[in-house]
Amino acid sequence: MITRTQVAIIGGGPAGLLLSHMLDLDGIDTVVLERQSRAHVLRRIRAGVLEAGTIDLLRAAGLGERMDREGHPHDGSAIAWEGRPRFFIDTKKFTGKAMMAYGQTAITEDLYAARDRAGGEIIDEAVNVELHELTSARPYVTYEKEGQSRRIDCDYIAGCDGYHGVSRQSIPASVLRTYEKGYPFGWLGIMSQTPPFPDLCYCYHSRGFALASMRSPMLSRYYIQCELDTRLEDWPDERFWQEFKARCPQEMAAKIVTGPSIEKSIAPLRSFVAEPMRYGRLFLAGDAAHIVPPTGAKGLNLAVSDVFYLSRALAQAYKTPRLGRRAPVVVVDHAAAPVSRRDAVRPARAREPIRLSARFGARAGVTGRAICRLAFRDVIETAHF
Ligand code: APR
Repeated sequence: MITRTQVAIIGGGPAGLLLSHMLDLDGIDTVVLERQSRAHVLRRIRAGVLEAGTIDLLRAAGLGERMDREGHPHDGSAIAWEGRPRFFIDTKKFTGKAMMAYGQTAITEDLYAARDRAGGEIIDEAVNVELHELTSARPYVTYEKEGQSRRIDCDYIAGCDGYHGVSRQSIPASVLRTYEKGYPFGWLGIMSQTPPFPDLCYCYHSRGFALASMRSPMLSRYYIQCELDTRLEDWPDERFWQEFKARCPQEMAAKIVTGPSIEKSIAPLRSFVAEPMRYGRLFLAGDAAHIVPPTGAKGLNLAVSDVFYLSRALAQAYKTPRLGRRAPVVVVDHAAAPVSRRDAVRPARAREPIRLSARFGARAGVTGRAICRLAFRDVIETAHF
């Protein structure tokens, strides 16, 4: 069976779903191919601290209602140095911008709901996804569903399939460059249905680092630094709470509300970046292109940033009458997610406004100028296929 869409999106995580939503606001047709079932994707517990740019973007894209109702705004974060009083870095005061604790699981639910309302096509349990003819003007994707081979013809492919996905691996080894740094420790994290410590708090201690974070007013996330060979079975909840409290100031430890963990995992800390993020008609976004350690709660925000720029670039491409030949496309280069500069023909002004279609503005209920205030824009380049 062969079908056709404008942009085939590989991966139905936050990056893929958000891209599908944003392109739809511009009248661009997409199909999302997800390897797992929807239930599986919605069970995953991951990031949850949103930066100001992400918050603005979700609101502007019509996805902010539940986030504003259930999210937990934060003006900054605290640092506790062993033996010294805790101090608070008031980001809101110094930058005018606040953060929001709102779980990635909730964002994914909101995105699925928005795609369903708009009649968006998300094909789950799509196996053996393969990308073809990426350097031609007619790329296509093949996959299997319920034992049947299927094919989607498209103009572009967005690789939003995370670190383990197939998209990045479809870029020839002679072109792909990867950079990786592994740290000699991991983070043992637990999630508990307890009221979180009021501030995000980073604790330095000679026993090891500890972090108090949260996802919602009744969902806490706590981490302690651990050895890479740590085994989960050696860390019953009691031991975790004891160790966590030993690493934070006494006045803070006294306020931590403990409870049974609903999730417990060990994350080795590492950074990974792949470039180029574009190969022919394939664009990578999110974890497919870069992984950062959870330290700065940056991964999800970077994925949203990628999607913002990619959606604007594709919208721009579809507006040009020369589409399919040498269509100008805006691509972005920011520090943590470099884009190949080989094809860049002219750097544009960093503060150049990004134009939004009337449809996007109308459906998102915002003016283009509001979106252009987003913090993501660092360098914008004009490239040619
Ligand atoms: N075919 C189809 N889908 C695939 C394939 C494949 N071969 N490989 C992976 N996927 C799907 C995964 O099942 C997953 O649902 O792609 C999706 C990728 O989602 P994420 O890993 O969540 O990546 P991304 O959408 O880039 O999200 C950004 O930010 O906080 C971080 O790591 C955190 O997930 C978060 C990320």
